[in-house]
Amino acid sequence: MKSAEITPFIGVELFDVAYEDLARPGNFAEFTTLLHRHELAVVRGLELSPQQQISLARRLGEPVPFVIERYRHPEFPEIMISSNETRNEKPIGVARVGNFWHQDSTFIADPPPYTMLHGVNVPSTSGHTLFASAIDVYDRLPELWKRKIEGRVGIGSVAKRLRIRPDHVGLSPAEFKVVAETEHPPVRHPLVKVDPYTKRRYLYGSPEYLDSILGFDANETEAFFGVVNSLLQDDADHVYTHRWTPNDLVVWKTHTTYHAATDVEPGVGRTVHRVSIKSAA
Ligand SMILES: [Fe+2]
Repeated sequence: MKSAEITPFIGVELFDVAYEDLARPGNFAEFTTLLHRHELAVVRGLELSPQQQISLARRLGEPVPFVIERYRHPEFPEIMISSNETRNEKPIGVARVGNFWHQDSTFIADPPPYTMLHGVNVPSTSGHTLFASAIDVYDRLPELWKRKIEGRVGIGSVAKRLRIRPDHVGLSPAEFKVVAETEHPPVRHPLVKVDPYTKRRYLYGSPEYLDSILGFDANETEAFFGVVNSLLQDDADHVYTHRWTPNDLVVWKTHTTYHAATDVEPGVGRTVHRVSIKSAA
């Protein structure tokens, strides 16, 4: 298969591939190798039925149904519908989430290793997805910070991103935190991990999904978050912006890939099918 690196830091694109080509075992093995080497793989204009998307996902592992049942595809629970569109005045999926830099699901103990998106109805003018490599972010950390975080553990939490529900009204911030931590217990992850495929070190954890760093005081934690945010936001050369075109297939390794959604312009519909994939048992 024809392929090319998207940026020196992250991403590989495969060209002139149809589902039947990609589904061939030898080709899928090559796709997987490229994904493991480049953290993110893109095939543009790949027409896929939901069944075909799930069957490709099964080659990587086991698709995990989305936690919130009403946002699952009505016939294919493995697919989560990310959409701002409505049918019969009801939302057909979960409105755009993740408009901040994050690695997927680092607030749970065992995040599924792959995420696969298929662009079903995507505008090209907005709703882009930004990607950065957690290996590259680690490499660019100042030596002082590399030393300071070596062997440290981050406390992962979704509390900063939880939305206030009607039953939360009236709670103080401290009370809300207790409720959030009861529903989503904080988890511990090493801040620095080694990717099993490239054998390279990467930073694991994003400020929005990290509550604290064990052994750091509040000032050190904030200083560290500032460094990470500036590495993610201030150097556009190290970020790949995926401008969607219809039927794009985008797959990434959740551990080594930071990403952020950008807004969709008002009045424009956008629907993407997402499959989260855990390692095969
Ligand atoms: Fe995400």
